[in-house]
Amino acid sequence: MSKQVRIAVFPAGGLGTRFLPATKVIPKEMLALVDKPVIQYGVEEAVASGIEHIIIVTGRGKGAMEDHFDHSFELDAALARKGKHELLAVSRGVSSLAQISYVRQKEPLGLGHAVLCAKNLVGDEPFAVLLPDDVIDAEVPCLKQMMGVFDERDGAVLAAQTVEGEGISAYGVLAGSEDPDNWRIFNCTGMVEKPKFADAPSKLAIVGRYILTPRIFELLAETKPGAGGEIQLTDGIKALLKEEKVFGYIIDGKRYDVGDKFGMLQATVEFALKRGDLGPPFRAYLKGLAL
Ligand code: UTP
Repeated sequence: MSKQVRIAVFPAGGLGTRFLPATKVIPKEMLALVDKPVIQYGVEEAVASGIEHIIIVTGRGKGAMEDHFDHSFELDAALARKGKHELLAVSRGVSSLAQISYVRQKEPLGLGHAVLCAKNLVGDEPFAVLLPDDVIDAEVPCLKQMMGVFDERDGAVLAAQTVEGEGISAYGVLAGSEDPDNWRIFNCTGMVEKPKFADAPSKLAIVGRYILTPRIFELLAETKPGAGGEIQLTDGIKALLKEEKVFGYIIDGKRYDVGDKFGMLQATVEFALKRGDLGPPFRAYLKGLAL
């Protein structure tokens, strides 16, 4: 089996209920973080990491994503006619970002089920999974960091971050031990989904980036619905752990959960402040608020 990770799967078939009413009609992956749809950040991260083929798992009412990454002839023609060349380059840039295939998840039966929907398109090779609503701001793209670990170790790699205190209960949490050679690597022996603070086996929470081996597909096909009646990716990975090595990797970067209203607000403020064009006036505006 090739060790090269060429394919990235973006599960985007969920209902996005935490962001209602905005997500009643608009897919949450298409909500704008400053001026770009959330999913574009992940696609750009994958491309910058060397991914050659992107698979987006969509669902009912999610067609806007396909239109976004396609050519927009009317828009491009109008921009060309008006001499708006910079904006034309932005529009064309999006449609030529990557080679993207789409597969429908007919019912949102869970993240594990969404990944399983990509089985035939992925085939028999290792692949990455990026959850579009986890936006990761990092100097070296997060997925690229993980590919480095996958290259040098023999096993799946799960992105993780340290979460102090009670907040850990919102995540899947890794059990295992720190690697003696590299503090960012964690040798996993298990994982617990949303544990009580007192029962958490570590402070390491799984975040939305994974490099998996194709064996996961067979295991997911056998996985019964778990928490919330959904087929959980973590249950599939727990089964994988019995057969193959699995590593946690403490990412070097900051992760925002933009599928959550508060996380989106945090990311919006921080990403806007970093922008050359918006940062200075936005900073001045924030300073003027009587907080
Ligand atoms: P989330 O739990 O964050 O997404 O799943 P959700 O279910 O859409 O959101 P809420 O909780 O109702 O607000 C993480 C990722 O997995 C995808 C989601 O689209 C999201 O990117 N997902 C989830 C699927 O593709 N299919 C599913 O059946 C469930």
